[in-house]
Amino acid sequence: MQSRELTLAHHPQGRVRPSDFRLDVVTVPEELGPGDILVRNSWSSIDPSVRMRLGPTGPAGYLPPFRIGETLTGLAVGEVLRSRAPGFAPGDTVLHINGFREFAVLRQDGDTLAGAGGVTRLDIGEHPPQAYLGALGSAGLTAYVGLHCIGELAGGDVVWISSAAGAVGSLAAQIAKLRGHYVVGSTGSTEKVRFLLEELNLDAAFDYHTPDLTRALDSAAPDGIDLYFDNVGGTHLGAALHRLRPGGRVAMAGAVASYDAETAAAGPDNLFQIVSKSLTVKGFRAGAYDHLLGDMRAEVGAYLRDGRLVAEETVFDGLESAPDAIVAMLRGRTVGKTLCRLR
Ligand SMILES: NC(=O)c1ccc[n+]([C@@H]2O[C@H](COP(=O)([O-])OP(=O)(O)OC[C@H]3O[C@@H](n4cnc5c(N)ncnc54)[C@H](OP(=O)(O)O)[C@@H]3O)[C@@H](O)[C@H]2O)c1
Repeated sequence: MQSRELTLAHHPQGRVRPSDFRLDVVTVPEELGPGDILVRNSWSSIDPSVRMRLGPTGPAGYLPPFRIGETLTGLAVGEVLRSRAPGFAPGDTVLHINGFREFAVLRQDGDTLAGAGGVTRLDIGEHPPQAYLGALGSAGLTAYVGLHCIGELAGGDVVWISSAAGAVGSLAAQIAKLRGHYVVGSTGSTEKVRFLLEELNLDAAFDYHTPDLTRALDSAAPDGIDLYFDNVGGTHLGAALHRLRPGGRVAMAGAVASYDAETAAAGPDNLFQIVSKSLTVKGFRAGAYDHLLGDMRAEVGAYLRDGRLVAEETVFDGLESAPDAIVAMLRGRTVGKTLCRLR
């Protein structure tokens, strides 16, 4: 059997382009070894983190860079075709990390992308399979952990979420809103600002393409903020440090402003605010909080069931569209969870 796979053709020079990738055809082994599971993938998750693995080197302590010619990996959902692993049978739907390919041979004891995706059987009776790549998956867990464990969301907090129209941000913003907080969202276009205000019902929203980010934040949250959920880094973080009230917190999920930039994004020049206002700034990787998946799915699953949470998706069809999906997501042309549908 043949399978198409997305491989890295070149290390991007500056911003990533579709031509940095290549589609290769490989032969899937006929025989499965003990513990192997053959899966036909149905959805591949398109995540900003893939960008950090496309260069010849990556951030220290992070996932290793892809080599030229290597098949990309990433979270995916698929259907089991054959299995020699206990607990997995043909027809099961599984979550795993061997995305960006049409067929995958998985190992139950294989790699997990630092805890984000061991091979897991999914019950898809209530929610569609791709929900486990978005609201009920890594994006949901990142939002949940960032707010509750890292940000220590407390009664009366005013919250600012950056990249609020994206996968993680839209969930974090809605969870905070559903818990009764005043929530400000920022994003990259007028259309997305409208999405935040009219569809996610946030209290205030602004486009960060403004000459004065701090002033935009001042207008949106005139009395200051208590928690900043940082998806962007750089000048966004600087504006948050300026507007955080004493004892405020920053939950750092990511720094997408720097991933695809041709030159490194400028860092904040006001770090002393952390000292003067006794702020807590803490980064995290959701994969280290896998034990909270059940709690997150109980809360977010209930919101989805009641229709109180919008799980927006931007879907690209076919593995051949995955390069366009990666580029579109990094350039802000997608809303909610970006996905590639494989069949
Ligand atoms: N810590 C963890 O475990 C973990 C797990 C998953 C994701 N993350 C991080 O969470 C963040 C969001 O991830 P996601 O999957 O939800 O992606 P996403 O927000 O759905 O997509 C990325 C978005 O970033 C925005 N963006 C791109 N360049 C920007 C810039 N220069 N300045 C401001 N915004 C920019 C774009 O939206 P606009 O239209 O708003 O510009 C783009 O759509 C990323 O930093 C990611 O690395 C962390």
